Amino acid sequence: MKILEDMIKEKGQVINEDILKVDSFLNHQVDPVLMKNIGLEFAKHFKEKNITKVFTIESSGIAPALLTAQELKVPLVVLKKQTSNILDRNYYQTEVRSFTKNCSYMLTLSQKYLKESDNILIIDDFLANGEAASGVIKLIKSANASIAGVGIVIEKSFQPGRTKLDKLGYDIYSLARIKSLTNNRIEFLK
Ligand code: G4P
Repeated sequence: MKILEDMIKEKGQVINEDILKVDSFLNHQVDPVLMKNIGLEFAKHFKEKNITKVFTIESSGIAPALLTAQELKVPLVVLKKQTSNILDRNYYQTEVRSFTKNCSYMLTLSQKYLKESDNILIIDDFLANGEAASGVIKLIKSANASIAGVGIVIEKSFQPGRTKLDKLGYDIYSLARIKSLTNNRIEFLK
């Protein structure tokens, strides 16, 4: 998606060869015009898939996911990150390990917001190791609901997440695919 790649080139900061900082338009300050365009693009790609809900994980996935849900005219559900297991039968929970942030959390979803008849689109801001998306997929499957696809704003294609999700056979649509961040340069996959 050209406007996203242009924004990344103009405002993204390479922190090291693994981390791209996009605080000024996605992770801290949020650019609403860019989010609107992201929502339109995801909705265009997934519009024929009979999506019933959009799922994301707090917090940086919320802005692109909300604009996508608005375009698709379906509810957005924000999965929570609890620090401990709440041991409540009314919730689905699974542990997610973040290699980037070196921490773990319990991905948590109220059973009220996921039914067997649902067909879910998962949206997230970054795809790195694929742990967060894999956790969401696991929760959805535990409710016997369906997964329509996964929309990612920025995929770091040099990390294992994309390959891991491709192996599961879902429609993975990433708006910007970063090939490398070496030598302080952002290189995109063509
Ligand atoms: P994974 O989900 O693909 O396995 O990725 P990983 O656990 O390694 O990353 C976890 C967190 O780190 C996520 O944020 C993700 O957005 C963020 N992250 C990963 N790579 C980058 C990067 O290059 N730049 C930036 N800015 N963030 C990155 P989170 O813990 O869910 O936090 P939040 O920002 O959504 O609250």
